Parts: sequence; structure tokens; C-alpha cells
Amino acid sequence: MGSPFPTLTAEEAAELIPHGAMVGTSGFTPAGSPKVVPAALAKRARALHEKGEEFQIRLLTGASTGALCDDALAEAGAISWRAPYMTSGPLRKLANSGRIDFIDMHLSHVAQMTSGGFLGKMDFAIVEAADVTVDGRVLLTTGIGNAPTFLEQAERVIIEKNTFHPARIAELADIYTLPRPPHRDPIPIQDPLDRIGTTYAAVDPRKIVGVVASDLPDGGRPFAAPDATSAAIGEHVCRFLLDEMAAGRIPPGFLPLQSGVGNVCNAVMASFSSNPDFPRFKIYTEVLQDTVVDLIGRGSVLGASTCSLSLSDEKLRFLYDHFDEFADKIVLRPQEISNNPEVARRLGVIATNTAIEVDVYGHVNSSHFFGTQIMNGLGGSGDFERNAYLSIFMCPSVAKGGRVSTIVPMCTHVDHSEHSVQVIVTEQGLADLRGLAPMARARAIIDHCAHPAYRPYLHHYLETAPMGHLRHDMRRCFELCNNFLETGAMLPDLDLKQFEA
Ligand code: COA
Repeated sequence: MGSPFPTLTAEEAAELIPHGAMVGTSGFTPAGSPKVVPAALAKRARALHEKGEEFQIRLLTGASTGALCDDALAEAGAISWRAPYMTSGPLRKLANSGRIDFIDMHLSHVAQMTSGGFLGKMDFAIVEAADVTVDGRVLLTTGIGNAPTFLEQAERVIIEKNTFHPARIAELADIYTLPRPPHRDPIPIQDPLDRIGTTYAAVDPRKIVGVVASDLPDGGRPFAAPDATSAAIGEHVCRFLLDEMAAGRIPPGFLPLQSGVGNVCNAVMASFSSNPDFPRFKIYTEVLQDTVVDLIGRGSVLGASTCSLSLSDEKLRFLYDHFDEFADKIVLRPQEISNNPEVARRLGVIATNTAIEVDVYGHVNSSHFFGTQIMNGLGGSGDFERNAYLSIFMCPSVAKGGRVSTIVPMCTHVDHSEHSVQVIVTEQGLADLRGLAPMARARAIIDHCAHPAYRPYLHHYLETAPMGHLRHDMRRCFELCNNFLETGAMLPDLDLKQFEA
């Protein structure tokens, strides 16, 4: 029997979406995000704008999306409001110039905010699926994101049926949604690989207005090989975790690891497997990058719970070609569960995320440059760091060829506070802040993590700041930032040759 749902072209589907609509999309990173309908929507927006007509949507996703969604829509001026995360250059420009409303949210909050009605009515969900059945079972692809909730909440649904993905991808999915409070039971996950839900997301089939064909891959690119800085950070983290095990503070079977996004996190994950003393471990995280597929293949990682397979196209093909090896070792969950604070705390997750800057007391900025310019957003970092057994933040000690110190007196924007940040790591070393009072924290961070060229400034700042529980000089706490904005260097007299590789 053929599909009971109307078959539409991407252009026909885009025509259904009116100006001002709230649109929710499947996926998490380019993985699982719709591709052909957003691209057609961007084209439609351009055509309408040329005729002098208004056309913008409000766009809610799992996290970042691919170039055919965020970049295309941003470049077409087709977005007025966007949440909860992004990595798109064109979108970043719009957010930083005040031309769109961008809302930077904890990713585990999005489903509840949507079903609670806080973000307004959802008019359309555009969902990428490997297949959809007559009775409304949607087999999601590589990124689950908030698709199950958007399918429940949206008034109308467009399915992008993507034949790039085998129907077997659904074997990885574990779809479990939470009822609205107070009708919630404990989430019964006691091991990262526990399965508690279904392999499909459910939708009322009467809401499906059309199915659009697609065969586009996610378009993920491989990471560059780790550089010396990332490798040094990885070695510090590795040694620290092994010492924690030796001291009995991490059990012999180890604890599940969460790993953030980006080059540094990818390199740190790789360093765990290259150390022969490092135990085999499981992962409870929101994004799996290429390295983890290799680690599972080699047996160094026993399995992983995640919200998305954010892999390069070649690594995803490899996974599909060897599906039997991975089918029982990867669980794909909605982000409300992959990032759930209750589960992270129960499992004792070790959270490793990347910072943009860290202040001397351990506050962390993950999202904004110089207090004003958003990079990507805080993503899921807060979901994990606040609830982890151990919360580790990593970054290189300097950026911009040494003209920026990532260790500063006071962060110009705070995503994670000193109350839950426990360990800071740069290529210089590691500061374990647990149990330390503010001044001891500050000295540990400066002595172990700051670049030696910035240590005298930071110590002098600390010793000359007025006394308090935290010593700060409100006239000088942003001096480094202001120097950079005025001269292009935090300490204009520093010899930059010392930072050359
Ligand atoms: N001041 C100015 N620029 C800085 C900076 C600082 N303090 N720190 C970093 N940068 C710049 C770098 O110079 C680089 O710029 P370039 O692309 O022009 O060279 C850019 O920021 C990215 O730095 P890089 O070291 O390559 O970082 P990364 O790929 O490891 O990503 C974050 C780092 C923080 C941007 C990224 O991890 C992120 O967005 N984190 C927040 C979300 C998150 O943690 N999600 C995971 C939750 S599970």
C-alpha cells in the first residue's frame, strides 16, 4: 500500500508556512535536521522580499542545524526569532547586530518550555524521518533533538523522508517523553545504555500535511587532527582522572563521561583511548563526534547514550556499513532525557566542556566574547556541569595569538558559576578547585592554568584588589577586556613572539 499522506515538493511544503509562523525542526546539530524544506523556505522568503512582502518565521530547533537550514534562512532574512543554540556564521551576525531575537537556552529546558506553552503555539513541525507509518510512527534519523515533543505540540507536520538513512537507524532510538508536572515518575535510567522507550516518535497522523522526499546527507565534516595544545589539555585531564581513581574517588569501573563540542573536546576524548592505563568507559552525552565511533570500534568505549550522531558523512557511512557492531552500543535519546539533570546526577556523570574564558574564582563563560558578542550559546554545557559528579572546563590559556588571556580577573559574561565549576584545565596545567576558598581558588587557577606571560598581571590584580570574601577591584576588573577592545591586545606591551609555535 502506498503512503496515505500527500506527497509534496519542498516548494509546495514551503508554501504552506505563513509569515510569522512558529516552526519547530527535528535534529540536533546538522544531524537529523530537515534540509530541503528549510532551503525552499529561504528561497520563498527571498522571492517575497523582492516583491516587497514580509516573510519571517520563528524557528525553534534541538540545537544548531545545518547550512541548508540556519545559514540559508538567515541569509534570506527569513528568521525573526531563534532558539535555543546555533553555530551558523550568518545567524551569529544577525544576533550580534540586534537584527533577530536570539534566545540562548539550556537545551534540556526546551521540550518543557514548548509543551508548557511558554514559547507560544507551535504552528508547524518539519521533521526528518527514515520513514513514517500510516498510524503515525515516525522513525527519526541521526539527531533526535526535540522532535518527539514538536510532533506532539505542532498543529501541522511536514515530514522530510530521507532515503540516505536506512530504516535500521531507528534501532538506535529510545524515545521517551515526560508528562507535564506534577505527573512525572523518576526516569528509570540506571546505566547509560538502558532503554526505556520506543524506537519511534508518535504523531497524530491527521496532522501530517505532506511528505517531502530527500536524500541529502547531514554534511558533517571530519575534525582536524588534535594540535599540541589540545593534546596537552587531554593529557592533564587523563592524569587527573587516573589519580582520582587511584585515590578511590572514582570507582574502579569508572563513571560515564560527557564530552562537549568542538576541537578541544574531540582531542581530549582521543587522548583517553591512547593512554593504556585509562579504563574502558561508557558515555552519557548529547553529541557523539567521530572519535567516539572509533573508540567504540576499538572497545575502549563500551557504549554511548547521546541525542545525536554528529558525525562526518564518511564516519556515518562506516557506521551504517558496520551497523551490527554498533546497534547495541549506541542509544539515541530526546534531549530532555540525554541532558536530564536527574539522570546526570544519578549516574555520576563526569562532565568535560570547553570555556571561552574563566575568571580567577572559577566562573566560566562559554558563550560570549567581550561581554557582548555571542559565539554559539551555552548549549547543553549547563545541563551537565551543574549536575555532574565532577565538572571540568577546558580551554587553551591564550587565544588570538596570545593577545587574549582566557584566564581573566572577572568574566565578562557568566554561564557557569564558581559554585558548580570544580576543575579548570588549560595546556599549562590543571586547577582542582574542590574545597578551596576564593583566594586559594584564584591562586590555583593563576599558577596552574594562566599562561606565564599573564600571571604577574593576574597576581598583582588579586593582591591589590580591596579585601572581601572575593577580592575584586570594580574599577579594574575588566581592564584586560577594555585594553583588547581599545588596542587589539589585553596587554599591549607583551612580546607576541613567545606565543609562536
Ligand atoms: N576571546 C576571544 N576569542 C576567543 C576566546 C576568547 N577568550 N576563546 C576562544 N576564542 C576564539 C578562538 O580564537 C577561535 O576563533 P577563530 O575561529 O577565529 O580562530 C574560536 O573562538 C573557537 O575557539 P576554539 O579554541 O577553536 O574552540 P572550540 O572549537 O573548542 O570551541 C567553544 C570552543 C567554547 C566556542 C565551544 O565549545 C562552544 O560553543 N561551547 C558552548 C556550548 C557547549 O559547551 N556545548 C556542549 C555541551 S554538551
